[in-house]
Amino acid sequence: MSDRIHSLSGYMYEYQKSVQDPESFWSRIADSFHWRKKWDKVVDWNFETPDVKWFVNGKLNITENILDRHLYTRGDQAAIIWEPNDPEEEHITLTYKELHAKVCQFANAIKAKGVGKGDRVIIYMPMVPEAAIAMLACARIGAIHSIVFAGFSANALSDRINDCKAKMVITADGNFRGNKQIPVKEVVDEALKNCDSVESTIVLKRTGQDIQMTSGLDIWWHDAIEGVSSENKAEEMDSEDMLFILYTSGSTGQPKGVVHTCGGYMIYTAYSFQNVFQYNQGDVYWCTADVGWITGHSYIVYGPLLAGATSIMFEGVPTFPDAGRFWAICDKHQVNQFYTAPTAIRALQAYGTEPIEPYKLDSLKVLGSVGEPINEEAWHWYHDHVGKGKCPIVDTWWQTETGGIMVSPLAGITPTKPAYATLPLPGVQLVILDNEGNELKGNSVEGNLCIKFPWPSMLRTTYGDHDRCKQTYFSTFPNHYFTGDGVKRDEDGYYRILGRVDDVINVSGHRMGTAEVENAINEHPKVIESAVVGYPHDIKGQGIYAFVICDMEGRTQEGLTKEIKETVNKIIGPIARPDKVQIVPGLPKTRSGKIMRRILRKIASGDGDNLGDISTLLNPEVVEAIKEGASH
Ligand code: WTA
Repeated sequence: MSDRIHSLSGYMYEYQKSVQDPESFWSRIADSFHWRKKWDKVVDWNFETPDVKWFVNGKLNITENILDRHLYTRGDQAAIIWEPNDPEEEHITLTYKELHAKVCQFANAIKAKGVGKGDRVIIYMPMVPEAAIAMLACARIGAIHSIVFAGFSANALSDRINDCKAKMVITADGNFRGNKQIPVKEVVDEALKNCDSVESTIVLKRTGQDIQMTSGLDIWWHDAIEGVSSENKAEEMDSEDMLFILYTSGSTGQPKGVVHTCGGYMIYTAYSFQNVFQYNQGDVYWCTADVGWITGHSYIVYGPLLAGATSIMFEGVPTFPDAGRFWAICDKHQVNQFYTAPTAIRALQAYGTEPIEPYKLDSLKVLGSVGEPINEEAWHWYHDHVGKGKCPIVDTWWQTETGGIMVSPLAGITPTKPAYATLPLPGVQLVILDNEGNELKGNSVEGNLCIKFPWPSMLRTTYGDHDRCKQTYFSTFPNHYFTGDGVKRDEDGYYRILGRVDDVINVSGHRMGTAEVENAINEHPKVIESAVVGYPHDIKGQGIYAFVICDMEGRTQEGLTKEIKETVNKIIGPIARPDKVQIVPGLPKTRSGKIMRRILRKIASGDGDNLGDISTLLNPEVVEAIKEGASH
């Protein structure tokens, strides 16, 4: 592809062009895609309302660019290689031709069930090829998919279904994870008790476990596609029609539905994929994320397949049957680019290098990292033991809202520095602002990471509540998109992400809102008030620490602590389960009644002797009591 960058000077040249004349820059990139009708204008935007449109009035279907476009050039090449949870089970390869046929067939099947352009479809599935087929089938007919990570609880699932008023749920009987078999359909059944909008569900048979099928509502995947044609003419979509909604946590209340649209998302995910990973035709690329997160959307499915890559999908976990599984898969499929999260690296690091030793890992060319800051120790371990010192690490910073990678080295081109995401991609105009909104220019500065110009794959709105989008991202610093992250630009102009500056915690690379966890805790009938903070955790990056005021009558501390963890499990899912629950007599508050989280964060991270002046608190006496009961 002509828009591939090959050298550092090439990067600098392209970056300059993208800033000086964004319209010509992106129009050149977009030209190499298949459009039913070209756009009238490249970008129309303001960050006040906010209102952002890319490739205005362009018409396309993203799946024509993923499937039809590749049929003649690489129809017999593997599009997806699926590696099952159990290494004894056969892997599955789907060529572009086969994927095309399956997507078209499933698109016809869901259409026959009454799903059409603009309808919302929830996908709640294990990591199986059918998850990607379901996504693309929705995109084929113009339905808006919203994937919910299959580890979320029934309650979290029904909240999301109701928020977007989904018409259909696509799911599976169960999920194989390591040596466990996790119910999936059962969770959907529970969730649907509280959802009126869903007219049908399609159920893939994966584990074969016993489930209940309700006639008139549930239909098996294999029955839904029986006798259905594998030909489907893709729906014509406007550039700005919604492609998908993905719910993500913020600093307040309920998760919000981040909306991405067809044209810009297509251009940016393909462009960033090719340049960051320096993917060459014939390479085998593997991203270990789950399709339930943005990384799975943009860099297992959309970006790689748009680029005509071979993308691996893995059903299992890194430690099953043993801690060498990732490396076994790399050797088995001769993986060239490997993309994972720091939390996985740290978890594997804890097993030492022995599980790596049996494997050659000589096909690897590029290693990627995403989801949270990678600490230097993990960076070096990854570099030395997995990459054998010869693979560049691309530490990619981005967010659900940005749709694609924003700050990252280009593999083998940008000189790397441990723990640094290095430099912005072309088209990404970063600024660092202090808390008053003044721009901190030059190098060796630290502040709030903001973006001052739109990029094609940015979020357009939060589903059903545009004002929330404005308040969350465009109001803290007027005329800027605010990321919620703190950042440092060092003496070389390199960016290092310092972590969230809002009330979002990053647990094993998963975003969790403290308010969301507190709301779940407060559902327990004995809880009076709670405050949740993050604290440094060796493997997860951050752990969840909950300080809770309870009515202890008839309960023991131990019993209640357990019940509270269970409550969160049930309301959100295991990923939000607090690591620590401390029952406290009170919470430190300001005179206006605001919880002083700064103090709780310090106590949670074992820095309770360094609290500074607490005399202005409404209740300074509770601080000592909390410190005494803290667990480390
Ligand atoms: C954090 C995941 C440091 C950051 C793609 C961001 C990172 C949040 C990095 C988004 C990185 C992601 N270095 N921090 N390379 N990548 N983050 O929406 O705090 O699940 O705001 O998107 O993860 O998480 P999300």
